[in-house]
Amino acid sequence: MDIKEKEILRELKKYRERDLKYEDGKILGSMCSKPHPLSKKIVEMFLESNLGDPGLFPGTKELEGKVIKMMGNILNNKNPFGYIISGGTEANITAMRVIKKISRKKDKDKKVNIILPKTAHFSFEKARDMMDLNYISPPLNKNYIMDVKYLKDYIEDKREKHGIDGIVAIAGCTELGTIDNILKISKIAKEHKIYIHVDAAFGGFVIPFLEERYRLENYNYEFDFSLDNVFSITIDPHKMGLAPIPAGSIVFKDHSFKKYLDVEAPYLTDTYQATLIGTRTGIGVATTWALMKLLGSEGYREIVSKCMENSYYLIRRMNEYDFEEVITPVLNIVTIKDEDPLRTSLMLRDMGWYVSICRCVDALRIIVMPHINKDHIDNFIEALSQCKRD
Ligand SMILES: Cc1ncc(COP(=O)(O)O)c(C=O)c1O
Repeated sequence: MDIKEKEILRELKKYRERDLKYEDGKILGSMCSKPHPLSKKIVEMFLESNLGDPGLFPGTKELEGKVIKMMGNILNNKNPFGYIISGGTEANITAMRVIKKISRKKDKDKKVNIILPKTAHFSFEKARDMMDLNYISPPLNKNYIMDVKYLKDYIEDKREKHGIDGIVAIAGCTELGTIDNILKISKIAKEHKIYIHVDAAFGGFVIPFLEERYRLENYNYEFDFSLDNVFSITIDPHKMGLAPIPAGSIVFKDHSFKKYLDVEAPYLTDTYQATLIGTRTGIGVATTWALMKLLGSEGYREIVSKCMENSYYLIRRMNEYDFEEVITPVLNIVTIKDEDPLRTSLMLRDMGWYVSICRCVDALRIIVMPHINKDHIDNFIEALSQCKRD
């Protein structure tokens, strides 16, 4: 390495050293974690792969097909179609694009009406801006999930004279980790022939691996393609899948949905391109394939169980200090009631702890990711109680 290169790396290191490190356990509000160590070698191996021009990278393209099959396996779909893309935002926008295309095929001037839970991630706002969608958001019930009775009445009343084109349901909502009752929603959608998109960006790599002892009584965890009218699912390897970013995924029920996404790509090796992003790395494909092979269901089950065990440990410790949770955790997301969560989160930040806050309820929100251990939790509880003393 020549002097100039060394200097450049030294300079970069200074910037990088200012970033937080997952292993310090102070990042408590992120849905990403430290990528699995195997990722490093794979990133280097696939550095120049570009699935935007798949004819030049047929090996990586074939691998993408295999990863989508593996996704199909955990989502109960033998015939999946989809892509490994940049993340949950791109996946959700892609799904909204399909709903819009299907709707406009029936009637090109139609208003596109979509039922969207109040707990939906803000990526759907971006989709609305881009595609001029009309969202209807039913109230939440006492369990912080979409009120299905309201949804049913709304659809049956035909309050939207253009009809409902799609329903978004969430499996692991960003704020609280709750799961909509997708079984009930699916029955309504089937009856009225409505498309369901499930946002399982976070829950997709948790729910299938959640041990029985962590499942709440009378809670419906079903979310995948085994349910009628679930036509697309967002599931992100770069969240609980432990892949390095960017690795998100959109999976469709079958290949018939491709036609809604394809645009002509005359100067590339493939005639059509379906993904929103053109030039796109194959790194997400390779890392996801490798980690799913390496860890398998058993490995993911162990990771999820550890996170759930730590979530309950956090609840126990906070209760000792009279802090209260909003709900019993459904997934590895813990909420802490707080009269002024913004103020508390800023005080915590001054002490070096990064938590986030909820929008639908006055509470702090802690994502108990694999990089969080019991010592981190003990230290955090001390810091939180100190905030309250000050
Ligand atoms: C449920 C859900 N969907 C979508 C997203 C967006 O994912 P990304 O940040 O990878 O684009 C998130 C991110 O937190 C999420 O929690």
